[in-house]
Amino acid sequence: MHQLKNDIYWTGYIDWDLRIFHGYSTPEGSTYNAYLLPDEKPTLIDTVKYYGFDEMLTRIREVIDPERIEYIVSNHTEMDHSGSIDKLLEICPNAEVVCSPKGAEGLSRHFKKNWKLKVVNNGDKLKIGKKTLQFFLMPMVHWPDSMATYVVEDKVLLPNDAFGQHYASFERYADEAGIDLVMEAAAKYYANIVLPYGAQVQKVLAALQGLDIEMIGPSHGLIWRRKEDIARIVTAYKKWSAYESDKRVTIVYDTMCFKAMHSTESMALKLIELLEKESIPCMRMNLSLTHISDAMTQVMNSKVVLIGSPMLNNHVLPTIGGFLTYLKGLKPKNRYAASFGSYGWAAIGFKELEESIKEAGMELITEGRYIKFIPDENELAGLSVIVEKIKEVLNRE
Ligand code: FEO
Repeated sequence: MHQLKNDIYWTGYIDWDLRIFHGYSTPEGSTYNAYLLPDEKPTLIDTVKYYGFDEMLTRIREVIDPERIEYIVSNHTEMDHSGSIDKLLEICPNAEVVCSPKGAEGLSRHFKKNWKLKVVNNGDKLKIGKKTLQFFLMPMVHWPDSMATYVVEDKVLLPNDAFGQHYASFERYADEAGIDLVMEAAAKYYANIVLPYGAQVQKVLAALQGLDIEMIGPSHGLIWRRKEDIARIVTAYKKWSAYESDKRVTIVYDTMCFKAMHSTESMALKLIELLEKESIPCMRMNLSLTHISDAMTQVMNSKVVLIGSPMLNNHVLPTIGGFLTYLKGLKPKNRYAASFGSYGWAAIGFKELEESIKEAGMELITEGRYIKFIPDENELAGLSVIVEKIKEVLNRE
């Protein structure tokens, strides 16, 4: 049994086995956090993925008989949080499901059941006994239905996916697990899930500014309880949602015949060498070895992104093609970019690479550098054109 604060219990499921979450690699697993408030009208805030139901139920039973639950708050319809509502309602069939207007639509489309719904709007309050819940709609952070629940008397904010991290652990609090490590997981979560919705995140941050918050319990990962940790994650969300980044470069590429011909990799290595000479921090992400979701975290952190590929049948390599599709969806604004690569007989496919970079919302700072077959020393040295342009944009920012 884990009590966060004054009769607020964590009753979630630790998913130690999760390794992929709709295309996002989760080597550390995740948790689905449900919170139980055994007040006069016992209330459960969010549930867990369907296969974590038994574990959640065991945790609830350590506190109360689940038949007594009167409200199930669904902050977000996505099935990692609503996936156990139907099974739970078999045990407490008279419970009302509290959700946003868009949540009502989403739950109806997902479950096709006539549940007793209590639809709430922005700022609405619900008294459950000694405690009062207040709801804040968070449209597109990261679904239209998303909302946060605030436990007024205890100053606890339960904002579902916002401020979350995919991180399975025995510990429940960010300070117990190690704050730097949890911040890294939160950055990866933001880069891969929340990044397209910067304007909406800023609206939510403004709306929450007036609230006195002593604890933030997201629906994934560790809970933020120390004042300095809450300030750190909120400050990071302000930065990420404003699409601010650091004066650094991330090189994302793949190469043909890894460690044999590796022309594109030779170019990536030369770019790193030239950037190091200028003392410009740089990360090299080879997509044959690195998951696109890890590359995406570095893209979010970097002001400049260089993308390289060889040509294969007049197109970029499939790893780069997949990354570009991902990038176009996540749309990292305020970033500069350049492309590079090698080809055999026709360089036609690089147009597709450049168009994709522009479609992802990034500004090309120079023409791409494309080299036939294997680059010679002069051609490699010519990559300094890209580095000069990078210096220009970093100096004027
Ligand atoms: Fe954790 Fe959007 O679900």
